[in-house]
Amino acid sequence: MSVSKTAILEALKNVQEPDLKKDLVTLNLVKIISVEGNKIHLEVKVSNPAMHAKQRMMEAVKFAIHRVLGNEFEVQTEVVSLSGEERDGELRRVLPGVKQIIAVASGKGGVGKSTVSVNLAVGLAKRGYRVGYLDTDIYGPSAPTMLDVVLEKPRLVDDENGAKVMLPVEAYGVKVMSIGFFTDRDQAIVWRGSMANKALLQMVNDVNWGELDFLILDLPPGTGDIHLSIVQSIPLDAVLIVSTPQEVALADARKGIAMFQLPAINIPILGLVENMAWFTPAELPNNKYYLFGCEGTRQLADELNLPLIGELPLIQSIREAGDVGRPSVLQEGTQVEAVWETFLVNFEKELRLLPFRKKQIVKDVE
Ligand SMILES: Nc1ncnc2c1ncn2[C@@H]1O[C@H](COP(=O)(O)OP(=O)(O)OP(=O)(O)O)[C@@H](O)[C@H]1O
Ligand SMILES: [Mg+2]
Repeated sequence: MSVSKTAILEALKNVQEPDLKKDLVTLNLVKIISVEGNKIHLEVKVSNPAMHAKQRMMEAVKFAIHRVLGNEFEVQTEVVSLSGEERDGELRRVLPGVKQIIAVASGKGGVGKSTVSVNLAVGLAKRGYRVGYLDTDIYGPSAPTMLDVVLEKPRLVDDENGAKVMLPVEAYGVKVMSIGFFTDRDQAIVWRGSMANKALLQMVNDVNWGELDFLILDLPPGTGDIHLSIVQSIPLDAVLIVSTPQEVALADARKGIAMFQLPAINIPILGLVENMAWFTPAELPNNKYYLFGCEGTRQLADELNLPLIGELPLIQSIREAGDVGRPSVLQEGTQVEAVWETFLVNFEKELRLLPFRKKQIVKDVE
């Protein structure tokens, strides 16, 4: 008994690469190593480096071959991860109209990711860029409140192929999407991971983002499944890490950085942001109180040879602005606006330097 390579490839057209959403053959991810009698030996590449994803792919390949060609075939599949470059090439087909996708992450919760990402998005829009903001915090979406769009809903329209797509909500010149638009504000969202991932992918693929200079992704805290899913399905250009100077926050920031720097993930860290760096009471403008410790994030940045993009003090009006939904970067002529201005200037500078830094890293390794 024997089978042609064409028949094997035909059978494998039924297997989808789960992250890249196309079949293995179209994506050219299958190599037939040998076919001897009823023994088929294959190599298949997958985007997700996790063990369980590889196991699942092995099962899917076996299932497809048995179903199409018959149960008598013995299938041996070696599953290897796509390299960062190969994956980027494929992922570029996702969100092709977006020039730069920047994620804002931290390890610990409540350190100011949403505050930083909302103000970054609105601040960039104020500078004339076309900006989108995607709240990926499926379990605790805060964007609708912070951008005062709680009562709005994305509109459903037909795209040029007649398919239904969503149009993001607009706030302060930024195109905004959040899972919060689809859930009741007071309802605790208790979803299984797979549902959360599906909702996230819909906000990327079924939304008409149009042409954007920046898409800012506000990530949930931690380094969980949803993060893995994001790095595999969205072609991130860089990540900004937010931390407070507190030891527990820094330890978690370190874990977050380590995750993005894993060889299989390999997303450049644009820099660190120290939030709640100090507190200055309005009546004592020259005093700085280091409530959460002093310069911890700067030290971490130095140690890891990463830029420190901003030091944002703890300011009451930053919190109030978040609560009323008018980002503090819009408070013209104030100390707060000046703080964001410095941050934005550094952000743009580090972004310009990033391609050179990547080359430098390669040189260092060589
Ligand atoms: N520099 C600051 N000054 C004053 N208040 C701040 C500052 N940064 C953040 N806050 C406030 O701290 C709270 C937590 O901030 P935020 O929601 O941005 O954190 P987060 O990291 O996104 O949290 P989560 O992990 O829950 O997503 C908010 O009420 C916010 O307004
Ligand atoms: Mg948040």
